[in-house]
Amino acid sequence: MTPKIAVFASGSGSNFQAIIDAIASGNLDAQICGLIASKNNIGAIDKATKASIPHEVIRKADFSDEGFAGCLLDILKKWQPDLVVLAGYLVKVPELVIKTYPGKIINIHPSLLPDYGGKGFYGLNVHQAVINDNRTESGCTVHIVTEQFDEGPILAQRKVSVLENDTPESLAARILIEEHQLLPETIRKILTQRFSNS
Ligand code: GRF
Repeated sequence: MTPKIAVFASGSGSNFQAIIDAIASGNLDAQICGLIASKNNIGAIDKATKASIPHEVIRKADFSDEGFAGCLLDILKKWQPDLVVLAGYLVKVPELVIKTYPGKIINIHPSLLPDYGGKGFYGLNVHQAVINDNRTESGCTVHIVTEQFDEGPILAQRKVSVLENDTPESLAARILIEEHQLLPETIRKILTQRFSNS
């Protein structure tokens, strides 16, 4: 059976698109069962529609904490994913969801974790901090999601050099290119391992 992936996103969805492309080109044997978007009118939704992938917009602000977790769990129960991928998802995943899918939720983060992770380190803030600290290297990390923000076990990383004239935007763009390789590659490894063991 083809493994199923659910994707959560909050933004343009270029990492989501990288997964769609990896499947379409035969580099990843998987099926995307659905996208959960944290808000309306984001690029990720357009990409889901174009690829005929079902999506649900679930806005945290519309729920109590308990209601939010329950709603996400109801959808995941319907979709039955083997793996949940946070691809630029800016909302904290409720503890109950993490406990229900232990070790089965992964995230991509645009730094070499454990550096520049946790509260406040999202978007261009990450890259600005790296530049402010005169770091010569940055990169991206795929890790398992645990209750501690950006602190779960690291699965894979890719490094990029920080250039002298880098701006947060130029560094982000160079790292994003690596993210688009790293994420599908790591998903492939996880699914190959899981499915060959079962
Ligand atoms: C990526 O840099 C990812 O690492 C971070 O959010 C960004 C999402 O970009 N978590 P996109 O929506 O996949 O284009």
